[in-house]
Amino acid sequence: MQIKIFKDYNKLSFATAEIIINQVKEKPDSVICFASGDTPKLTCHYIVEKATKHRVDFSKVTFVGLDEWVGIPPSDSGSCHFFFRKNLIEPLHLTEAQVHLFKALSNDLKVECIKMDESILSCGGIDIILVGIGLNGHIGFNEPGTSPELYSHVKDLDALTIQTGQKYFNHTMPLQKGITLGFKHFNEAKKAIIIANGLKKAEIIKKTVEEGISIEIPASIINQHRNGYILLDEEAASLISPDFKHKL
Ligand code: GLP
Repeated sequence: MQIKIFKDYNKLSFATAEIIINQVKEKPDSVICFASGDTPKLTCHYIVEKATKHRVDFSKVTFVGLDEWVGIPPSDSGSCHFFFRKNLIEPLHLTEAQVHLFKALSNDLKVECIKMDESILSCGGIDIILVGIGLNGHIGFNEPGTSPELYSHVKDLDALTIQTGQKYFNHTMPLQKGITLGFKHFNEAKKAIIIANGLKKAEIIKKTVEEGISIEIPASIINQHRNGYILLDEEAASLISPDFKHKL
């Protein structure tokens, strides 16, 4: 695992977008998995800008949505569906056949999980998984304590996730569960990237980098990834102690 630190959120997002663009240029039929959330928003903007400006062909890409709030309709502006459609799927003109998203209104979420796992398998696995990090260290909805042996699954949300998650919605939302890709997907992805920005993420980033691999800090699993990167702005990196700068 390698850490890279950028001056600010803008430079972090620009560089992250460049990684995705280069991936698609090198392998046009790449399978790319993205998180939604505040962190990757500007990265998405730069991906679309670069793809348009340099005519990068996304028509063979497969796009996988990392997670979704259970019970929230895709039309809700706080849903992950809404984020993916607005920020990537529509501006990049991806077709429905190219896109795999969890249907979190389904009566049978187990079937949704199986369908997602089969889709990922049938397109040859994930080339790049790009995730944010929750304040409790979650990636996707893999909350603290989640088994590292899982593929797609449904998870009860932590109190902190329920509280923080309200920021995506226009009104108070009774969030309870999330449907998410699992650590197995993360570990098996050919490249795994965690991005984080801002002082609010500094404490959990420090723990992720410094406290070894533990299911209590789900993002720490990246420490064992053979091609894993943590991309940070200076604020998110500000608490990493000098002893761990060798990972830079
Ligand atoms: C959310 C999502 C994650 C996201 C993370 C960080 O709850 N389930 O996919 O990456 O928390 O979100 P943000 O980037 O808004 O801080």
